[in-house]
Order: sequence, then C-alpha cells, then structure tokens
Amino acid sequence: MTRIAVIGGGKIGEALIAGLIAGGEPPKGIAVTNPDPARGQELAAAYGVVDFTDNSQAVDGVDYVFLCVKPKDTIAVLAEIADVVDENEIDTTVISMAGGITLRALEDAVPVGTPVIRVMPNTPMLVGQGVSAVAPGRFAGEEKLEQVRELLASVGTVVVVSESEMDAVTALSGSSPAYAFLVAEAMIDAGVSLGLNRTMARELTVGALYGAAAMLKETDREPSSLRADVCSPGGTTIAAIRKLEECGLRKAFYDATEACARRSKELGQDSPAEKN
Ligand SMILES: NC(=O)c1ccc[n+]([C@@H]2O[C@H](COP(=O)([O-])OP(=O)(O)OC[C@H]3O[C@@H](n4cnc5c(N)ncnc54)[C@H](OP(=O)(O)O)[C@@H]3O)[C@@H](O)[C@H]2O)c1
Repeated sequence: MTRIAVIGGGKIGEALIAGLIAGGEPPKGIAVTNPDPARGQELAAAYGVVDFTDNSQAVDGVDYVFLCVKPKDTIAVLAEIADVVDENEIDTTVISMAGGITLRALEDAVPVGTPVIRVMPNTPMLVGQGVSAVAPGRFAGEEKLEQVRELLASVGTVVVVSESEMDAVTALSGSSPAYAFLVAEAMIDAGVSLGLNRTMARELTVGALYGAAAMLKETDREPSSLRADVCSPGGTTIAAIRKLEECGLRKAFYDATEACARRSKELGQDSPAEKN
C-alpha cells in the first residue's frame, strides 16, 4: 500500500484527500496532520484517514509527503520533519503545494538528495476537476515525477511546467477558481436585481457557466469563436458584451493576473533561502 502524509488538513489538504480516495487510494494509507485535534478527527470521520497532531510521526515511513500548510509555515514544517524523512528507508518524496515558495528554499530545508516537487494545485481538486502544475526539483527524477503525476491525475488535470512559469500558473489556475466564483456571485446578484428569485438566479448561472466550461473543454474551438456564435447582429448578447468591454473586463483580468503573479513572486522572495 502506498503511504501518503498530508501535512495540513485545510482546504487544499482536504481536497487532495477527497480526490485521492475517490481515485482509489486506500484511506488507511493516508495520514493527515493538524495542530487542532478536532479538525483531524473531523477528517478521520469523514474520509477514514489516520489523523495526527505530530508532523514527524505522520511522515514516518511514508512514500509521499504533501505539504498543504500556508506558505509562511512551509519551511518551518520542513525543518520539523527533515530528520524523519532522512531516516526513512524508502526515498520519501516531498511535494509542496505552497504558493510562492521556491524549489531552492524547499530543497535547502531538507537533507541533500531528497526528491522535492513543487505543485500549484487548485480547489476543484475536491470534485476531481483540479488543475495541478508540477515542477520537479533537482533530485526528483523522471520516475518520481511520473509517480506524482499519476497521484495528482486522480484529482484532475496535471501539467508539467518549469519553475519560472509558476507565478503565471498561480494567476491562471491556482487562484482562478476564485475569479470564477466571483463572476458567478456577480451574475446571481445581477439576476436578483432583474427580479429573479435567488434560487432561480443561482440555478441559471451555475448551469450556464458549467455548460460553457464543458463546451470549452470538449470542443477544440477558441472562446472567441464560441462567443461569436451567441452574438447575433444587433442582438441581446452583443449588447451585453459591449457593456462588459466598456466596463473594462479585459483590463480587469490583465491587471488582476499581474497582481496575483507579482504577489506569488513576493511570497517566494520572502522565503528564507531567497533572502541569503
Ligand atoms: N486555497 C487555494 O485555493 C489554494 C490554491 C493553490 C495553492 N494553495 C496552497 O495550498 C496551501 C494550503 O492552503 P489552504 O487554502 O488549504 O490553507 P488552509 O485552509 O489555511 O489550510 C492550512 C492547514 O494547515 C494547518 N496547519 C497550520 N500549521 C500547521 C502545522 N505546523 N502543521 C500541520 N498543519 C498545520 C492549518 O490548521 P489551523 O487552521 O488550525 O491553523 C490548516 O488546517 C497554501 O500553501 C497555499 O498557498 C491554496
């Protein structure tokens, strides 16, 4: 049985656990750690995983350690588990989900030679529809990379990127479910403003967004071409599109993704190895 430790059972940790189990990983092979024992018990009851409050205990003998704590806690957690990872008889792979924390900072925090992989996930992992961008470190060879790809494939799409692309990836997939939720929220409120009840406005919004995403995914067509099909000359949809363009929708996305990528870069520069 593959043994996996998930350090930090928050939003991403839980999404990963749910996805791995749905993808066939045995729950008893998954350990989860949380400072608050009540959260660990909650996850153990919901998924059948084994809960710990001690990170070192949880990584003893595991094949994979997924770091799902906040970026600011990532290096401290690595320092805490480094000795046990080093003493493990198997070659434990360390996978960091932390935004901004560089491979260099991660590798500096574990014994030399430890395979480290940096991943930018996103929360739709919870429903098996995540996107994970993966960048291997110096000691993570093809085989390790492939194994981690396979694990993450059980929770959605996996792409391999170079680390230099990670800040842009964070802006495009790591953070973007929040942009989509904000768009959905705005559409629902707009529907209510037009006189629909909220339940109906939600059903119409979610159905339309889900359908549009499925069309994008399942056809090879460009978004601009799919959009043109909905915009009859002089019609209702082009009137709405014109208003969205006049309100600066494209500029908002250029600016928002730039702000996101910049913040990701700053988080990396704040990490200890980058300050040396
Ligand atoms: N959320 C996203 O959409 C998203 C997307 C891409 C990447 N990420 C990355 O994923 C990571 C986790 O984010 P998240 O949104 O899941 O955060 P989160 O919900 O706050 O989860 C972090 C979890 O780690 C626990 N924790 C804190 N210190 C710990 C320690 N020393 N040992 C073990 N567990 C500890 C926290 O417990 P307490 O709450 O009790 O402190 C919490 O349960 C971050 O590095 C983030 O950059 C998140």
